[in-house]
Amino acid sequence: MDTSTTLIKNLADQYGRSRNNLLPILQSVVKQEKYLSELSMITIAKELDISASEVYGTATFYSFLEHQKMGRYIIRVCKTITCSMKGKNQILLAIQDMLKIDIGETTPDGTFSLLQTNCLGFCHKAPTMLINNDVYTELTPEKVREVLSGYLAKAKEGENDE
Ligand code: FES
Repeated sequence: MDTSTTLIKNLADQYGRSRNNLLPILQSVVKQEKYLSELSMITIAKELDISASEVYGTATFYSFLEHQKMGRYIIRVCKTITCSMKGKNQILLAIQDMLKIDIGETTPDGTFSLLQTNCLGFCHKAPTMLINNDVYTELTPEKVREVLSGYLAKAKEGENDE
């Protein structure tokens, strides 16, 4: 049995094999594996005895449940109205320019993925972005470059540790 199947079986044991536990199971798989593969969705469907299309429908409805392999740091720039009006595009351009990736892409070394997201609840401090679980507010292109430099340094340190 591969590690993904074992993980899903353990999660189904832990949460219970009910349709009501689909979301926490999906979230736990994303937390551990960073994304939901097609095989994971099929395995979850089998474990909960529901259709694969139901699992897929739920997974694609929630923007935080990735179904493609993501980088170590997932950048989510808020695209909702307040952030849009307060310079979201400049923030995106600064990121794209620095990392040389487009929205939906991952850097070739697998360090960063760039996505957009809906309101992060910090509209009074727009524009905002999330990197993994950390929120960054009142962004400017300079601040974005500073934040990303910090992550790049962290990623390099991680490489040296290995
Ligand atoms: Fe961006 Fe609310 S609109 S945080």
